[in-house]
Amino acid sequence: MESTRQKMIKLLANNRTGYISGQELSRQLSVSRTAIWKHMKELEKDGYIIEAAPKKGYRIIDFPDKVSQNTLRWGLNTTWAGQELFHYNQVASTQEIAHKLAAEGHPHGTLVVADEQVKGKGRMARPWHSQKKDGIWMSLLLRPDLPPVQAPQITLLAATVLAKAIASASQVEPQIKWPNDLLINHKKMAGILTEMQAEQDQIQYVVLGMGININQDPGKFPDEIKKKATSLRQETGETWNITWLIQLILETFENTYEQFVHEGFGTVKKTWEQYGYKIGEQVTISTMRKTWEATLLGIEADGALLVKGIDGREEKLYSAEIHWGEGGYNADA
Ligand code: BTN
Repeated sequence: MESTRQKMIKLLANNRTGYISGQELSRQLSVSRTAIWKHMKELEKDGYIIEAAPKKGYRIIDFPDKVSQNTLRWGLNTTWAGQELFHYNQVASTQEIAHKLAAEGHPHGTLVVADEQVKGKGRMARPWHSQKKDGIWMSLLLRPDLPPVQAPQITLLAATVLAKAIASASQVEPQIKWPNDLLINHKKMAGILTEMQAEQDQIQYVVLGMGININQDPGKFPDEIKKKATSLRQETGETWNITWLIQLILETFENTYEQFVHEGFGTVKKTWEQYGYKIGEQVTISTMRKTWEATLLGIEADGALLVKGIDGREEKLYSAEIHWGEGGYNADA
């Protein structure tokens, strides 16, 4: 349920250029004008700058750069992505909270965002370093009407969403390293962790965890990942507004997801391959069984990586490590 304050922010957000009278707000929100005034004072405490003009009404003239439920909602232009959202200062992992919300029946598009995670999870049970306020640590709850075999498509879709959003916000063009790491200049700036609850032929829900390094300085990464990790700030020299980036990602996500639902995986596959790291190039691949030279051709609808060996033989891989160059980035590092 949307609170009166959330509804009020929406109304003010939709009237950004003009004023909205206290009377109109009290009519639309079914509360007294004194209550409206009290809510305005609370918003000011949150960092909003509100102008109250006699005879005209209220207008928000600036919003805070701190991330909160209110600032995330302010101007968020989506129908379902992030329409229910939970923001925390510190959590163990946003994934855990999203799973709980899923079990409680929260809807498709519910978002959990935290300023800091003290037990952030990466793929393959690795820890995910999630420093306070330096990155985007969030989990999106999805309820796709799909069989479990199609779940990898959602992860691949998410990687294209992050790549598109980062590319449109900044001058840098990220690349997607199979299956779903985002790299800039060969270093990892974001990772995606997909966890799913499913029955044999139907996904019940997916929790899509996204970890994106935004404002870290190089020294802020722990030694073991310093050489392999980067942040948007490191690559652009600018400090980024986290709230705005989350909104951009949610809006891009919703549009891309709707297109996927209506038109299928084709566009996602094409976009993924456009951003794909080392696609069309020769790399060294190792699996549990062997190590060999092959060219990365692209991805398949089931999420597999398609490669072509020197002998011309094509293979679909579901788990593999990709290496190149001396000391290069390791696919699963
Ligand atoms: C990876 O290994 O590359 C995936 C990293 C995913 C990290 C995100 S941060 C938000 C969400 N909560 C977690 O604990 N993990 C994911």
